Amino acid sequence: MKYGKELLLKGIPVIFNKKGAEIAIGDGCTIKSSFLSNLVGLYSRTIIVTRRPGAYIRIGNNVGISGATIYARKGITIGDNTAIGGNVKILDNDFHPIELEERNNLLNDKNGGNSDLVPAKEIHIGRNCFIGCNSIILKGTFLGDGCVVGAGTVVAGEFAPNCVIVGNPAKVIRTLDTN
Ligand SMILES: CC(C)(COP(=O)(O)OP(=O)(O)OC[C@H]1O[C@@H](n2cnc3c(N)ncnc32)[C@H](O)[C@@H]1OP(=O)(O)O)[C@@H](O)C(=O)NCCC(=O)NCCS
Repeated sequence: MKYGKELLLKGIPVIFNKKGAEIAIGDGCTIKSSFLSNLVGLYSRTIIVTRRPGAYIRIGNNVGISGATIYARKGITIGDNTAIGGNVKILDNDFHPIELEERNNLLNDKNGGNSDLVPAKEIHIGRNCFIGCNSIILKGTFLGDGCVVGAGTVVAGEFAPNCVIVGNPAKVIRTLDTN
């Protein structure tokens, strides 16, 4: 993996990069992984995983991450100055196929089965976003620059810049005035 200058680790993250995949972390990032490194209380270490050759996780400059899981089969981009709150999950795939037969085939195949059947779509999180604690960002999500995601929100879909998004299913409650 590649990481930039002044990476600050508070606690020990779990970072796993599959051969042929890419993890890149920009300058000035902070990754928190111990229980009280963020006083919201972290349930787990930060986990950053690429699961397939060709997958990527690209994290910009000055990004803060607290006990999040960032798990890519395809690709996840996080823009500069974005804050990822405590215990957030960013999952660009479903881990299991939706169809029962495919799911059972995969579960029962000792050789790992055809994991291409696991639904996966890239995630893009823009610059200057703020993701509230315990949110879940699902496959195919696109968050424009400056979006704020409320605590505990389940996000799927595409959102324009500067939206405040809350709830499950996530809804835009207002657009921030950036002037
Ligand atoms: C999203 C957030 C920034 C909005 O703050 P705000 O603009 O002051 O919004 P308000 O408190 O005025 O709430 C506006 C409406 O959204 C609802 N709402 C706010 N946050 C919500 C959330 N996380 N989930 C569901 N609904 C929420 C409120 O109930 C209110 O609904 P109403 O208009 O029907 O009464 C804030 O509620 C939030 O979730 N902050 C994140 C905190 C956090 O996780 N910090 C990081 C810790 S590591």
